[in-house]
Amino acid sequence: MIIAPYLNRRKRLLAHMRNSNGGIAIVANASQVMRNSDSDYPYRHDSSFYYLSGFTEPCSMLVLLSGDTEKSILFCQEKDLEREIWDGYRYGPQAAQEQFGFDEAHDIAKLDELMPKLLANQPAVWSCVGNSLADKQLAKWLNSLRKLSRKGELVPETVHNLCSVVDEMRLIKDAHEISIMRRAARISAGAHVRAMQVCKPGLREYQLEAELLHEFRKNAAEGPAYTTIVGTGANSCVLHYRAGNAQIQEGDMVLIDAGCELEGYASDITRSFPASGKFSGPQKAIYEIVLAAQADCINHIAPGRRFKDYHHAAKNTLARGLIDIGLLKGTVEGVIESGALGQFYMHGAGHWLGMDVHDAGLYTDRNATWVEGKERLSRILQQNMVLTIEPGLYIRPAVNIDREWWHIGVRIEDDAVVTEEGCELMSRYCPVEVDRIEGLMRH
Ligand code: GLY
Ligand code: MN
Ligand code: MN
Repeated sequence: MIIAPYLNRRKRLLAHMRNSNGGIAIVANASQVMRNSDSDYPYRHDSSFYYLSGFTEPCSMLVLLSGDTEKSILFCQEKDLEREIWDGYRYGPQAAQEQFGFDEAHDIAKLDELMPKLLANQPAVWSCVGNSLADKQLAKWLNSLRKLSRKGELVPETVHNLCSVVDEMRLIKDAHEISIMRRAARISAGAHVRAMQVCKPGLREYQLEAELLHEFRKNAAEGPAYTTIVGTGANSCVLHYRAGNAQIQEGDMVLIDAGCELEGYASDITRSFPASGKFSGPQKAIYEIVLAAQADCINHIAPGRRFKDYHHAAKNTLARGLIDIGLLKGTVEGVIESGALGQFYMHGAGHWLGMDVHDAGLYTDRNATWVEGKERLSRILQQNMVLTIEPGLYIRPAVNIDREWWHIGVRIEDDAVVTEEGCELMSRYCPVEVDRIEGLMRH
């Protein structure tokens, strides 16, 4: 059990609180959600709770006290040998305190009794404002504390939004996180290779999905980080399609967007390839445009660049390519400004990646001056941010498009960490070049 990164994050958060007049931070874990009688949805911890605690059991909460004696306190389920026969091992407060490095740990059943006392006389509360369960609990404890105030206790006067502080911390990954994310990306890339090699006309989308899931679990990943997309033919043009039961036909493009979650970290990879293992002329033309756009994106990612720079690069290269092959008419600027490009490319070129597939952290630059009516500038990239690079083109049937182009959906998505000079692609164990994909599918 590695606890140093979690201790270090709590220390950094406490230092931030100290510099803003201190207070008490409350970080709730996610709730268990019932699926139907006696069955829960698979439990997944809250990302920020885990980021600060390293603890994954449900029914738990983290409290940090800033002030003369800084403290991290865990609330968790008490040991219960009877329940453990059904649900498995639980740490209980004593073992959790020792093994995860908390200063105190208590039975979660004591939360309502202890929280008003912990809140008393604190100058401020740091809580994820907008989390309805956390808001409700906080209101309850503050009301209890108001009663205690008759005995001279003070009620905190300020509430800070803890999420915005923790989200900023999560945006810059530490070495521990990057090493897990490299492994997650490697497993997912291997799963894409497997799916490509297995793919042949006649199989169904869910059979390729099964290959991906098999590879994830076989390599110790918890499971998929998001719902797996496997779309063949027309389905390759449906952005959030879920692997269904369509049968793969000779001549189809197949688009797979799938990534595993490993040790709480997501990967997010898309590959697009011909069902038969050989790109047709139109498929290759579209594919090469997206690949060129992705290469341009990669060249626009480095410390000092803005987040949106690579999004603009993607649009420019996609527009240029579509004009060159005759699917769009006019100039690059013209088809972007008029919205004509939006017929074929309607999403962004990437997002932060981390514990969540669309990870925490603002995309806008807080420090940039804002001009009314103009979009706020996006933030400047820094080393150790992790993001996806995922341009695409989707050619749906339309009166202005010749049939030979219909149902070609291509997205190429890789995961990258910003380095000192540029970025490192973590997911390229699965190739992207036309000849390498065709070579892979021959074997
Ligand atoms: N798989 C979700 C995304 O690419 O954003
Ligand atoms: Mn993505
Ligand atoms: Mn994706």
